[in-house]
Amino acid sequence: MQLSGDQEPVLESRGFGMEKMTQPYLIEFRDILDHRGALTPIEAEKDVPFAIRRIYYIYDVSHGAVRAGHSHKELQQVLIALSGSFNVHLDDGYARQTFMLNRPNIGLYVPQMTWRDIDNFSGGAVCLSLASQHYEESDYYRDYESFIRAVGRR
Ligand code: TYD
Repeated sequence: MQLSGDQEPVLESRGFGMEKMTQPYLIEFRDILDHRGALTPIEAEKDVPFAIRRIYYIYDVSHGAVRAGHSHKELQQVLIALSGSFNVHLDDGYARQTFMLNRPNIGLYVPQMTWRDIDNFSGGAVCLSLASQHYEESDYYRDYESFIRAVGRR
């Protein structure tokens, strides 16, 4: 996995409790290897620090497209590059970090109140999202200025 300059160290999955995390971090999931290939299991509340209420995935991304462009008020999420690669830019209103995801056994935990943009998708990239909430449009900030006001920067 390639890391950007200030990227957090990878934590082994199951290395945390269920307390709500406030910082983004990478989770290394188990990969069970044998001569047939690899298998990665992910169990809610064990491998990720929340109960998974929804999954969705982004694929067939148009060349040069940027996805996301929003923050959630309550929702926590783990993003995984099931195939291919992409960059996730995170912004808590004070500092920005970029993570490059390109392994299906690495997840990026994204806490609530974190603006995210996802870009630089490779051909064939699939971005899996594990989410702590059902889809609820009222949980979104889709306007960056509103998000910055909500985190108290303005
Ligand atoms: P959008 O939030 O723009 O996707 P992304 O985060 O990848 O940029 O969502 C695109 C559309 O899909 C939008 O109309 C909302 C809808 N949608 C759902 O209906 N359910 C979902 O779980 C998600 C994530 C989006």
